[in-house]
Amino acid sequence: MTEKTVTLNTPAGNFDYPVLDGSVGPEVIDIRKLYGQTGMFTYDPGFTSTGSCESKITYIDGEKGILLHRGYPIEQLAEKSSFMEVAYLLIHGELPTQQELDSWVRTITRHTMVHEQLATFYRGFRRDAHPMAIMCGVVGALSSFYHDSTDITDPDQRMIASHRLIAKMPTLVAMAYKYSLGQPFMFPQNSLTYTGNFLRMTFGVPAEPYEVNPIIERAMRRIFILHADHEQNASTSTVRLAGSSGANPFACVAAGIACLWGPAHGGANEAALNMLREIGTTKRIPEYIARAKDKNDPFRLMGFGHRVYKNFDPRAKVMKATADEVLKELNISDPVLDVAKELEHIALNDEYFIEKKLYPNVDFYSGVILNAIGFPTDMFTALFALARTVGWVAQWNEMISDPEQKIGRPRQLYVGAPQRDYVPVEKRTSAA
Ligand code: ACO
Repeated sequence: MTEKTVTLNTPAGNFDYPVLDGSVGPEVIDIRKLYGQTGMFTYDPGFTSTGSCESKITYIDGEKGILLHRGYPIEQLAEKSSFMEVAYLLIHGELPTQQELDSWVRTITRHTMVHEQLATFYRGFRRDAHPMAIMCGVVGALSSFYHDSTDITDPDQRMIASHRLIAKMPTLVAMAYKYSLGQPFMFPQNSLTYTGNFLRMTFGVPAEPYEVNPIIERAMRRIFILHADHEQNASTSTVRLAGSSGANPFACVAAGIACLWGPAHGGANEAALNMLREIGTTKRIPEYIARAKDKNDPFRLMGFGHRVYKNFDPRAKVMKATADEVLKELNISDPVLDVAKELEHIALNDEYFIEKKLYPNVDFYSGVILNAIGFPTDMFTALFALARTVGWVAQWNEMISDPEQKIGRPRQLYVGAPQRDYVPVEKRTSAA
């Protein structure tokens, strides 16, 4: 079979570049030799047309609204799987047998406690610190507590670090919450599920027994599964870029957490609920829709739009159904859910949103559920970080094992001053 190529006509001559086929999805032009052959770079701010790596973990078809983890549709995983099973699938590539699953759960569970000295680390933060500020610090600090799993050239150490990160995130996130309340940290209870244990460490107190509510546990499990991985998004690319220099996985995940914090990414769930609360009543929706469409107003409908999905985010559909279920089963009536549904309805029928293919994303309904469960808004992104750690760890492992992996080092289109001679201070004139 002849190799597929595209020919680029450049000032340095015509060059053929191989076209690579994935198992599904668009073909990719391999431009690795471009600079060497033509002396030119490509220009792609925001990497909208750039594939940065080969991956077997997650596939998204943004036009059709499809999300697959290792080939399995997210809707099926959210309905039928457990978070631990999804974690195994993302990291190991296949669904586990019962025996493999039991052993995986045992291993993760054994790592749920954190070093005692980490508690003193928390005490250095203000009580009103944002949980994401705390998470950036404490996850980065894990590398100073677990030296025996930071040699990234050793596959066993890489796996131990992966287990530790997945196992300790719920403990660390719950500790951030407890610290903000001034309540004692709760030790993990390893007889509970991953999600049940997290709920107990968050909402339980040492003075009383805590019973996990199965409705809340199921909703949390789904939220965790829906956030577990999402291909080469900004925070995952940050983890990979940090890891490409050989940095240890705790430091890399801390970098991912920093990136996730932004309102254009993981911070959108917090921003979406704040926006829905600000709108407050369905009567005010037209005013906010008008603002979102106004080019001179920086306001955007939070929880709407996505770089990749130009259709319904499949996670948003599951999230909407979960919001309905949780509020109904907990017997909560929240006007914010009515505002969300009406806003979605109006936006989906508005020419501006139709033309730009702007649909609700995963964050549009998640805040409503988390609010009903009892989480304060500033915890939302930390919960996202907890779940996404599984994806970050899977992607980091894949990158480290990839023989084509190199340090990530983009180039630029330089538009600054050309070379010039240094001017002594007394001879300078102000440019302003
Ligand atoms: N409300 C109003 N207009 C919007 C919105 C929105 N939420 N999102 C995009 N647009 C408009 C833009 O103004 C732009 O209009 P133009 O072509 O006239 O300039 C057009 O749609 C394309 O938008 P871009 O910002 O160029 O698209 P991009 O792919 O860069 O951004 C993003 C995607 C950041 C998610 C954007 O849609 C947004 O800011 N949404 C709100 C924040 C949000 O919900 N983020 C969560 C993302 S999902 C996640 O991280 C889990």
